[in-house]
Amino acid sequence: MELQILITLLLFLLLVLFPIFFLFRGKKYPDGLPPGSLGLPLIGQSFDLLKALKADKVDKWFQEGITKHGPIWKASLFGYPTVVLHGPAANKFIYTCDGNILTNTQPPSISRILGSKNIIELAGHDHKRVRAALTSFLKLEVLKQYVAKVDEEIQHHLQTHWHGRHEVQVQPLIKTLTFNVICSLLFGIERGLKRDKLLPHFQHMIEGVLAIPINLPFTQFNRGIIARTKLVPMLIDIIREKREALQEQKQANPRDKDLITSLISIHDDDGSPMMSDEEIIDNIIVVMVAGYDTTSVLLTFLVKLLANNESVYSAIVSEQQEIAKSKALGEALAWEDLTKMKYSWRVASEMLRINTPVALSFRRAMQDIEYGGFIIPKGWQVLLSSSMTHMNNDIFQNPTLFDPTRFEKHSLQPPPFSFVAFGAGPRMCPGIELAKMETLAMIHRLVTQFTWELLKEDECFVRNPMPEFNQGLLVRITPIKATFMSSKVSL
Ligand code: HEM
Repeated sequence: MELQILITLLLFLLLVLFPIFFLFRGKKYPDGLPPGSLGLPLIGQSFDLLKALKADKVDKWFQEGITKHGPIWKASLFGYPTVVLHGPAANKFIYTCDGNILTNTQPPSISRILGSKNIIELAGHDHKRVRAALTSFLKLEVLKQYVAKVDEEIQHHLQTHWHGRHEVQVQPLIKTLTFNVICSLLFGIERGLKRDKLLPHFQHMIEGVLAIPINLPFTQFNRGIIARTKLVPMLIDIIREKREALQEQKQANPRDKDLITSLISIHDDDGSPMMSDEEIIDNIIVVMVAGYDTTSVLLTFLVKLLANNESVYSAIVSEQQEIAKSKALGEALAWEDLTKMKYSWRVASEMLRINTPVALSFRRAMQDIEYGGFIIPKGWQVLLSSSMTHMNNDIFQNPTLFDPTRFEKHSLQPPPFSFVAFGAGPRMCPGIELAKMETLAMIHRLVTQFTWELLKEDECFVRNPMPEFNQGLLVRITPIKATFMSSKVSL
């Protein structure tokens, strides 16, 4: 195994980093670079950052850089010279900078799996156009009507994977749930063989995106590429079926609509389709990749918190029981119910502040940029850490303390660009309402149907780069009582 890792690293150096090294080797950079060192050729400080990320100590890594060099400094990360930034002003600069000046371009290895037309890769007019198409379905006014559908997936999930068990591994189970919610709500793929066939391909693709990009038969990256080649024909079939259904007017009821149908239906003012099939495919893939791990990480941390924090648990249970009492037995959750879960969302927000799923954001300078009195040369990366801002004592006092009152209406609200778990500006997460809906509905069903305790009090997680609990967060569960369980929902 270790030999395999060594060979992979050597090949990574040969195939990826050396070409980048030679590209940048002879370059003369303009004056006015930030302080700091680019470290060893190619490797720079990459391993240090990866080590800190794995141990969830990114803020410590940033702090050491700040202490050494000041608030803005340079480093070499993953083969590129990089300017490292932090804080609300830097967040504002990065999240609102013109997408043609500071691009979101990912390494070619990532777009090889996600596709070159995925929204993360796009800039300018194309980004606006694809984002408008995605948000036309993901916006609150539309999603509101699908709360019962999300709830039904959750009820089915709990019935299948939780009831009748004494112990469960929370994180892998919740990943299955987020996959199923996205399949049902966004792709309109009902439970059954078709859905089951998609899951392993998506999982391999996600692992491939996060892997070292060596395309050899035994690597995760290679598995990710193969998974894409298998998945794309399946998605082409799904798009064709939905187009036929639309033409036959089988989907007259807008409630039967899903994101894919919505993307096929959207036309420009001149009547031509707003998105090509290639764009639809790449963006279906990116929506799954972006929505699968993030929401499941949040829910997993919440399950852990509720097992450990008695006062937060009691307050959440009383809020959720009030809502359960107002419903008939078996009645599905509706949008109005979620609007009453204010405390629960404050707890989720505080969890997103402390354990933010997306800890680092990278951008690439397309021209020389001046920022904070320094030059960021064309071609360099810019690195930003949301957890650095979330852990800033001047913004969030006593930042390691879990305190949901920070998000109360009458509390001093964090200044703009300080709470950036969902990013900000024109690229702010378009899945925020879906994430909120899934999180609140799942918390409701969990606390009204089960109590639980951690089987390993000290179960840790590592970031790969998403937080992964060592044993998937093992808990012992006890069902509460049948009165809160749905009898109407068909299981
Ligand atoms: C707790 C859950 C989630 C968190 C914390 C989260 C976080 C983020 C963040 C921080 C960004 C911006 C990254 C950057 O600018 O560098 C982002 C973008 C994005 N997210 Fe989410 N996300 C979540 C759930 C979802 C879901 C459920 C979906 C799917 C519907 C989704 C789809 C996307 C997409 C498509 C983008 C790219 C937007 C663009 O480039 O314009 N996310 N997310």
